[in-house]
Formats: sequence, C-alpha cells, structure tokens
Amino acid sequence: MDAIVLLKDDHKTVEKLFKEFEKAGDGAYKKKRDIVDKIIDELVTHTYIEEEIFYPAAREGAPDTTDHILESVEEHHVVVWMLSELKEMDPRDERFDAKVTVLMENVRHHVEEEEEEWFPQVREAMGRNRLQEIGERMEKAKSQAPGDPLAVSSASA
Ligand SMILES: [Fe+2]
Ligand SMILES: [Fe+2]
Repeated sequence: MDAIVLLKDDHKTVEKLFKEFEKAGDGAYKKKRDIVDKIIDELVTHTYIEEEIFYPAAREGAPDTTDHILESVEEHHVVVWMLSELKEMDPRDERFDAKVTVLMENVRHHVEEEEEEWFPQVREAMGRNRLQEIGERMEKAKSQAPGDPLAVSSASA
C-alpha cells in the first residue's frame, strides 16, 4: 500500500471517531469513554508509524519539507500529552469534553497541514515505488506501536 494513502486512510478513521464523539449525548459517559479509547489507540499507532518511519523517510527523500516535519513533531507532542491525560480522565469530569474538543481542533489542523501542505511535496519528491515500500513497512510496524501515548518519541522530545 502507498504510504500516503495509508496515512490518509488513518486520518479518515480518526475523523469518523471524532464525528461519533460529537454526536454522542452529554450524558453518554460509557459511550464517550469507548470512543475516546478508540481515538487514543488510533492516534498513538498513527503517530508512532509517522515518527518512526514516514517522517524520517520524508526528511531524507524530500529535504524541503524539513520545517513542516519539525512543526508536525511539535504538534504530535501536544497531542500525545493530551491523549495521556484523556486516558486517565473520568468522562464525568467537567473538563473531559473540553479536552476532547481541543484535541480534535489540534488534530484536524495537523491533518489539514499534512494533507494540503507537505504530503504532496513528499509524493512529488519520492515517487511511487519508494512510497509503496514505506507503506509496507508502516503497515507491519502498526503491530509494534506502544499502548502508552507517552512512549511515542515526540512525547519526550
Ligand atoms: Fe502527523
Ligand atoms: Fe497523520
């Protein structure tokens, strides 16, 4: 699978979960907990394969995107810390929905920048075969992703 297609598929999966969260009723605590647990799993895995495989490969193959990549890592840093807080937070906590809302704003902004501003440059610079090979490596690496958001490298960067 093409690396950028794989990452965009992940983005779509996460966006679907965000929409589910937005539709869940205020008092649907169990449902919101389940959705947020899925969001955490998806985003930790996605962040992990981007940081371990895609970002380093893009930096090497499309050096012009370096500033975008550095900014993206800083955005991941904020997101994984929010995920680690949400993992422990009771959905009845008055700050829970607010924290999920800010998480969603952050992720949507981040995804838009990846998809609109610099993934196209990576595609242009790296070409089909290389992206295919990186996609295969990412697909395999998904099973090695940590469960703890703070085990992702940008957490301590
Ligand atoms: Fe990202
Ligand atoms: Fe992404």
